Amino acid sequence: MSAVSAFDMVIFGGNGDLAMRKLLPALYQRFRDGALGQEGRVLAVSRTDLDRDTYLDSVRDACKQHARAEFDEGTWAAFSALLDYLRLDATVSSDYGPLAQKLTAMPDRIRVFYLSTGPDLFTVICDNLGTAGLVNAEARVVLEKPLGHDLESATRINDQVAAVFGEQQIYRIDHYLGKEAVQNLIALRFGNAFLEPLWNRSNIENVQITLAEQVGVEGRGPFYDRTGALRDMVQNHLLQMLCIVAMDPPTSIAPDAVRDEKLKVLRALRPMRGRDALNKTVRAQYKAGAIASGAVPGYVEEEGIDENSQTETFVALKAEIDTWRWAGVPFYLRTGKRMQERVAEVVINFREVPHSIFSDESPPAPNRLVITLQPTESVQLHLVAKAPGDDMRLRPVTLDLDFRRTFTRRPADAYERLLMDCLRGRLTLFMRRDEVDAAWRWIEPILDAWEQHGDAPKRYTAGTWGPAASSALIGRFGHAWHEEI
Ligand code: BG6
Repeated sequence: MSAVSAFDMVIFGGNGDLAMRKLLPALYQRFRDGALGQEGRVLAVSRTDLDRDTYLDSVRDACKQHARAEFDEGTWAAFSALLDYLRLDATVSSDYGPLAQKLTAMPDRIRVFYLSTGPDLFTVICDNLGTAGLVNAEARVVLEKPLGHDLESATRINDQVAAVFGEQQIYRIDHYLGKEAVQNLIALRFGNAFLEPLWNRSNIENVQITLAEQVGVEGRGPFYDRTGALRDMVQNHLLQMLCIVAMDPPTSIAPDAVRDEKLKVLRALRPMRGRDALNKTVRAQYKAGAIASGAVPGYVEEEGIDENSQTETFVALKAEIDTWRWAGVPFYLRTGKRMQERVAEVVINFREVPHSIFSDESPPAPNRLVITLQPTESVQLHLVAKAPGDDMRLRPVTLDLDFRRTFTRRPADAYERLLMDCLRGRLTLFMRRDEVDAAWRWIEPILDAWEQHGDAPKRYTAGTWGPAASSALIGRFGHAWHEEI
């Protein structure tokens, strides 16, 4: 694929954690692959007073540590020539003068403003960019999650950003959509004819989506304690994945074709309120335990966390989609920090055969399709086959597509993919405003129910699959989590 046209990318929060761990290593990597070309400029801005050389030293370390490929000095020398640093207080309009000078010196380039800051700065940055005359037809803005704290704050942010940028210029990132396996799910569903006739309530018993992490709050204590797992992971990543699994076939891969279908799913989610929400959700918080790497402290012992915190680090819930395709099919969603394994997967559990012709000792197990996003990417179809021997005995077997073995080329990391999509003007893998609103509309009553009627979060030991209540929740509906089967 050819390199992108000349561009300027301004990263607000250019000295922050996301920029150092993900954005700059991703840009380095794409530069190394030849996708970024030589004509780009990356301008990191932040409030810290730093000279260019000191800043470049930190970026160099970050690329060494986090880029996918081996670090090499030649590539770094060429890549670092594209980088610059500017001190700028995002809330002070006069600070935008030097930025404007740099950008307007080379007009007619693609102009990306990446807001890798807290959402409280989104509107002031957009206002200041507008006032400084920096938002031209080639400009686009990337908004990191979380987009607000609830529907009201998300609406406020979206309204104010919309006063400066058109919807087609706004790239709301959900980095899960940039993961190769999520796009593979789209390819699997709509590139193969055999799945679609089975993809409905007549054949599917339940769907499970799990995003389990081994890490804790990773130095983001105060942010996480205000946020919790429902806002941090369910409102965005889990619901976006649910949309990809549940949406009807879009007419094309064009941004609005896909986003219209996702929106229909979000709007069809059955609302959960009050006691109903309490019955269909489990919230929990980890206590001290052990993960593969050793003993880990409990959530309230982590730095920056209030010792009486009631914030959830785990959520499991039963979602239902009120459509002809999905009526009666539970979608179990689950996410947690400090879980036993790092795994992100979608499990489609098919119904049992309508009538078994085999002996009772050897009943056929229902088919299961497992799409794994992390730690490695694979698609597995669990079937039964006859075991060798004189008797007709059935055994589980697996058709296994391991992407690392099938494709020699390693897929791009989610941020590599999404940054390039933004530079190329491709919005398909970014969220449209109405999707974000619809997701908040569904999430908010759950938050309200927890606040009004809820007890303290349940506890689970770090290094487990979450509280027993999570298994009990889905057990009540006659199902079990994938790893328990
Ligand atoms: C982020 C959340 O959006 O996703 C983090 O804010 C979480 O809390 C992260 O750790 C997980 O992403 P990944 O790609 O590591 O699974």
